[in-house]
Amino acid sequence: MDRKAFLSHLLILLLLISGGQCEVKLFIENQCSYTVWFAANPADGDANAEKAPGTLEIFIMPDTWSGSIWARTKCSNNESFYFSCETGDCNLGSVDCQGPPNPPTYPATFLNLGIDKSVVTYEVSLNHGFNVPMRIRPDGGSLTGGSGSGPCPVVDCIADIGNVCPPELVATNKDGAYVGCNSACDALKDPKYCCTEGQACQPNQYSQAFKKVCGLAHTYPADNNPPLYKCTGAISYNITLCPL
Ligand SMILES: *[C@@H]1O[C@H](CO)[C@@H](O)[C@H](O)[C@H]1NC(C)=O
Ligand SMILES: *[C@@H]1O[C@H](CO)[C@@H](O)[C@H](O)[C@H]1NC(C)=O
Repeated sequence: MDRKAFLSHLLILLLLISGGQCEVKLFIENQCSYTVWFAANPADGDANAEKAPGTLEIFIMPDTWSGSIWARTKCSNNESFYFSCETGDCNLGSVDCQGPPNPPTYPATFLNLGIDKSVVTYEVSLNHGFNVPMRIRPDGGSLTGGSGSGPCPVVDCIADIGNVCPPELVATNKDGAYVGCNSACDALKDPKYCCTEGQACQPNQYSQAFKKVCGLAHTYPADNNPPLYKCTGAISYNITLCPL
């Protein structure tokens, strides 16, 4: 092969490789000691939402996708085969969350993602409380879109919020056992926590209690500390439930 032909082959190869890198890949691993049921809104077409401890799954995401990923806990069918979960339930009576986008049953730790080609905006949000510890770690990549510079940071909430959950926010199952911690907005329905009052949205004693143990998560609707990161060029985004 002459030099020119070699170079053009190399160019095609490089284009193929970089074309492949455009797709956003999520690795989602359940390191919890218990089974969880993945859920996403909009639905991601996952055929088997039930993930035993140790499950690692790869998702190739659409070119553009904007939505939330969370874990449902303690799910089961009742005698008439109506499927429901103690936290994060999709309220559809079935394992898959396909259907009209119902708000899930809170509390649930949310991973919010905005995918626009190779740029991924990500946050861990406690705006609807906390059920399962979660971390997102971009593999490589760099910050873009005015969200900072340098490597794409890890964002997580891995402390068990249950230990600091104020009694008025505790979520329980029908037997009265703790299942998660509600956000102040969801539990107390006070517009000042939901930031629906029109005035500037401020941190409050509840969001501050969350912040103390989960400093990298967003803890009230206007929380911008850390900023909403936008990452480009990461090989994958590793999402871990109950990281060890
Ligand atoms: C199962 O749950 C559904 C929804 O809550 C309810 O309508 C139905 O009656 C339940 N079935 C039994 C046998 O408890
Ligand atoms: C992301 O997960 C994959 C698959 O488990 C692993 O090979 C890779 O090293 C991880 N990267 C980071 C930065 O954790």
